[in-house]
Amino acid sequence: MLKINCLTKSFTNPYGEPNKVLSNLSITINDGEFVSIIGSNGTGKSTLLNIISGLIKESSGEISLNDMTLTALPEHSRTRIISRVFQDPAAGACPSMTVRENLSLALNKGKLLNLKRCLRHSTETLEGLLECISLDLKKYMDVKVKYLSGGQRQALALVMASASNPQVMLLDEHTAALDPKTSNEIMDLTDSIVREKNITTLMVTHNLKHALTYGDRLIMLHKGEVVLDARGEEKKSLTIETILEKFEYEI
Ligand SMILES: Nc1ncnc2c1ncn2[C@@H]1O[C@H](COP(=O)(O)OP(=O)(O)OP(=O)(O)O)[C@@H](O)[C@H]1O
Ligand SMILES: [Mg+2]
Repeated sequence: MLKINCLTKSFTNPYGEPNKVLSNLSITINDGEFVSIIGSNGTGKSTLLNIISGLIKESSGEISLNDMTLTALPEHSRTRIISRVFQDPAAGACPSMTVRENLSLALNKGKLLNLKRCLRHSTETLEGLLECISLDLKKYMDVKVKYLSGGQRQALALVMASASNPQVMLLDEHTAALDPKTSNEIMDLTDSIVREKNITTLMVTHNLKHALTYGDRLIMLHKGEVVLDARGEEKKSLTIETILEKFEYEI
């Protein structure tokens, strides 16, 4: 269980004034739950993911994963437990290394090995990781990542993020830079990886259709607070129109 307890974050804006982004945010997420997070620009979604991953420090509050207090761990210790995929396809893998090299490194994430040992994985093992991908990635095993399309890079980033079987996966608008068809393919891939590996997943998206179609639960944040939290039948009954109305009301 991922427990976010009374989380608060204030930044200082360029004029030296406090900017309270998250205020007493509490959310409990079950193991294997796939949660979509929506909300207007600047409402604190990325800040929440950044605090969970340890990239930035909370002002107060605590985040725990089962009996482990995540907020007590430095960022590098959390990387073994938490994986991330970002909006920018260039951010998920090392562009000057091949698909093979990137996958090999992802399989050894968090282990203290030299590069030569890190890269010692059979083609069969690495191709196995790409089994469920429709974007022909196997053909590009020895091609540098910088020559792949944005969609192929995001597919690779997802496979890499899940290769070491993390307990939590954080996706921050990971389909936003893709065309509609590729974006849907990446969402299908996301869903199959999350389900197959049973990874507790928080996905930030501005694509309301994706937020409604995928995941077990939909959370809407506004000014750092939860204004909608729907799962099960309540989530199924939501429509894009009702969510847009909520946006209008909150903004
Ligand atoms: N490192 C930082 N230093 C100062 N202010 C920050 C920092 N990171 C975020 N903020 C501020 O926190 C607020 C929330 O930003 P955040 O990036 O979390 O929003 P968001 O919900 O992810 O928005 P978007 O949908 O545009 O990605 C904004 O006002 C932003 O300027
Ligand atoms: Mg953001």
